[in-house]
Amino acid sequence: MSAKPLLTMNQDQKNKTLSSNFLSSKSSDLNGEITIPGDKSISHRCVILSSLAIGESKINGLLNSSDVNCTINAMKSFGASIDMSSNDECTVNGIGIGSLKQPDNPIDFGNSGTAVRLILGLVSTYPIETHFTGDESLTQRPMRRVTDPLTDFGANFELRNKEFLPIVVKGANLPIPITYEMEVASAQVKSAILLAGLNAPGITTVVEKEKTRDHTETLLKYYGYEISQEERNNKNFISLEGQKYLSPVNIKVPGDPSSAAYPVVAGLICKNSNIKIKNVLLNPTRDGLYRCLDEMGAKITYSNKKNEAGEITYDLEVKSSSLKPIDVPAERAPSMIDDYPILAVAASLTNGISIFRGLSELKVKESDRLLGIYNFLSKNGIDVKIDSNNLIINGSSGGPKGGGLVETNLDHRIAMSSIILGMVSDESIRIDDIETIKTSFPNFIELMKKLGARISV
Ligand code: S3P
Repeated sequence: MSAKPLLTMNQDQKNKTLSSNFLSSKSSDLNGEITIPGDKSISHRCVILSSLAIGESKINGLLNSSDVNCTINAMKSFGASIDMSSNDECTVNGIGIGSLKQPDNPIDFGNSGTAVRLILGLVSTYPIETHFTGDESLTQRPMRRVTDPLTDFGANFELRNKEFLPIVVKGANLPIPITYEMEVASAQVKSAILLAGLNAPGITTVVEKEKTRDHTETLLKYYGYEISQEERNNKNFISLEGQKYLSPVNIKVPGDPSSAAYPVVAGLICKNSNIKIKNVLLNPTRDGLYRCLDEMGAKITYSNKKNEAGEITYDLEVKSSSLKPIDVPAERAPSMIDDYPILAVAASLTNGISIFRGLSELKVKESDRLLGIYNFLSKNGIDVKIDSNNLIINGSSGGPKGGGLVETNLDHRIAMSSIILGMVSDESIRIDDIETIKTSFPNFIELMKKLGARISV
């Protein structure tokens, strides 16, 4: 299969690619203790729910990244007052469910699919007009998965080419609550509908065939909102009654397990390493990567269990390990959907064939990630194949040749995974764009260097 760029690059990006000197090189003896920044999914939701609560909320450990800033800016434009007083301390004065004002200007959601899809849901039950747009990656991602069901609340959406941003939303004057059975396993779609339901009179229900991350449900309860969940006929029914109240909270956001995944895998595959990662969220709807690593023989110990924001966190201790190949079942995909690029790096360092099954959703992430993984592995000498929606990696514990230039196509997870791959490759790996990492893990390079990674500009 031939490697082709996913997005048309503008001249600026081409120049950056040609002049890129960002190198990740063979590293060993990783050592030390780090704390991972706040979970991205929970951070978006805390900003939205605090903005809808009546009164002042304090959010500690909010992820201070460009994606979460898009949500902050959006909620400010609807009338909430939000102050990021220190690096990760945020004070929000909410305006109450039912009180969003019409924004004066279009809202730019940058690279953030979660921000745009959740807020498309939120505005659909308000009698206001909102204009949504995003960057070169976000404007190529499918939006009808959210706007189609939201139309049933009574909202009207104008999408570019019937699928993409920019989108103009005219929210419902008299919203009608809905019952919706999910067509794709997507927490963003589920959350968009639940947020829309908050301002619809009566009961809104979402029916999931496959469970997706449940942070919206957990946080709604934490903000004092009644929400019911029950399992019937192997389906998950989630219901809430709209037009009630959210109470302000003092909340601490747990560390992001998808960000922790990069130092964890680095610690496992770099020789003679022993690292500690504090305060990592582990939720059964998010822990697929960790289950895979355990099955592969990873030496990870979980200690200091705590309850933060209705979620469980652990401190992890990670030691260099000799990993085994893995066959990852399709059913596991929703619980690890963001973590396949870094699992692909771990699988490349095993002796034998790993298969990741059922990856169709990877094609509609910040880039076509299935192709992105194929590209960054094959360019660095790894034997990899795409077979329909499956990825097949024939790894080697000796590590790959490396030496390739990785095009990240505005995808932070491809950028970080390539950097970890460079740490076990014979020749350094070059990456075209590290700016994109700021969307989810702004101090990634600093923390990796602190552990001993040989990364240089
Ligand atoms: C997210 C849901 C997932 C995930 C994304 C964050 C969320 O997307 O990939 O990074 O916070 O709800 P999908 O809902 O498209 O699976």
